[in-house]
Amino acid sequence: MATATPPSPVSVAKPVDTRGLANQVVGETKVCAVTQSELIYRGFEIADLAENATFEGVAHLVIVGHKPTAAELAAFDAEIKGMRAVEKTVIDQLAAVVKAAPHAHPMSLLRTGVSILGHHDKECESNAPDAELRKSKRLLAKIPTLIGAIQRTIEGKPVLEPDNSLGHAANLMWLMTGRKPSELEARIMDVSLILYAEHDFNASTFTCRCIASTEADMHSAVCGGIGALKGPLHGGANEMAMEMLKDVDRDCAGGKMTPEAWMQRAFAEKRKLMGFGHRVYKNGDHRAGILRRWGLKLAEKMGPDAKKWFDLGDKVQAIMLKDKNIHPNVDFPCGMTYFIMGIPVPQYTPIFVAARITGWCAHIMEQHQNNRIIRPLAEYQGPMNLKW
Ligand SMILES: CC(C)(COP(=O)(O)OP(=O)(O)OC[C@H]1O[C@@H](n2cnc3c(N)ncnc32)[C@H](O)[C@@H]1OP(=O)(O)O)[C@@H](O)C(=O)NCCC(=O)NCCS
Repeated sequence: MATATPPSPVSVAKPVDTRGLANQVVGETKVCAVTQSELIYRGFEIADLAENATFEGVAHLVIVGHKPTAAELAAFDAEIKGMRAVEKTVIDQLAAVVKAAPHAHPMSLLRTGVSILGHHDKECESNAPDAELRKSKRLLAKIPTLIGAIQRTIEGKPVLEPDNSLGHAANLMWLMTGRKPSELEARIMDVSLILYAEHDFNASTFTCRCIASTEADMHSAVCGGIGALKGPLHGGANEMAMEMLKDVDRDCAGGKMTPEAWMQRAFAEKRKLMGFGHRVYKNGDHRAGILRRWGLKLAEKMGPDAKKWFDLGDKVQAIMLKDKNIHPNVDFPCGMTYFIMGIPVPQYTPIFVAARITGWCAHIMEQHQNNRIIRPLAEYQGPMNLKW
């Protein structure tokens, strides 16, 4: 007896969307693993690191490749502190660019700063493992100094010297703002740097790996990474998330509008809401919850003017989840947290660089140590057989 042919599973299955290399595994790494609920740096889950490690320890883990002993951590910390100063020629050249282009974004200026650092680094052209490890440490140590020099020059204030009595996070805040942060602020910055340190084949790290795969040098790869991180769909989202919240606050001031109405208008305009959504995490980015808790702790201590941003953020977040089923990513609480700490908004993404430099350097070294040029194929969709 003839039986009906069941529908082919291929014809009914939703096609996998591979645009933007979504759902594609494009290489191997020992630096980091990302799952729906975990972010693991060389075997250690991020919640454990945020609770129990310092950024210096995580930087050692990511760059050097293992959890440091107490003695290794002390030596690493001292070594990095000894590398924080940036030659006056580099600061002067960077300051000249800032003064000539005062409206340039700090991320663009930082990209230039790293490029200038490369010109002055005697090991710039060496991709040998020991030279790359030394360059990774120098970049880690000096990027906060560049960030500080850029911000102070933009503000027309004297560039500050690194303060070796301060840890990495507190020194970064000091160089940018000229203010020594409280213990709680320094710890919150430290946690944010831990959360931002690494994230497998995100756009900027993949950019670094592509550049490194041509056997170009580490500074060139990092400049490319900064360029990729700048975009609002990637690292630039922490700035845009805060700008968006400021817009909601302004438009809703004095009861002119409700956050609900603001969000419905944004949905009707099909706007991308910054600090929401993620390519990998579809049920939420647990870094966001960790950073929100720390930020809220500071806001509650500071009082209503600070707390109001977290209350507004919670409203926006709840509407986004209810209407779009989209969760916040780490950039959403990051914007509010840096804002109440008095950090200028255009410096939020450069701070991300100060953290992600660890992941980038680890991936550049991993790429160079087992290299094959990254050169995928494209599916051509244009005309053929034309005659000139
Ligand atoms: C992160 C991001 C680039 C991921 O992009 P992606 O993987 O291509 O996005 P998805 O495939 O998950 O998007 C699914 C749907 O949700 C929508 N969506 C995703 N994030 C959104 C957001 N932040 N605001 C509004 N809609 C969003 C998409 O437009 C898409 O809708 P469609 O199916 O009608 O086209 C994207 O979520 C985004 O632009 N977010 C805002 C920027 C941001 O915060 N970046 C930092 C990431 S850590």
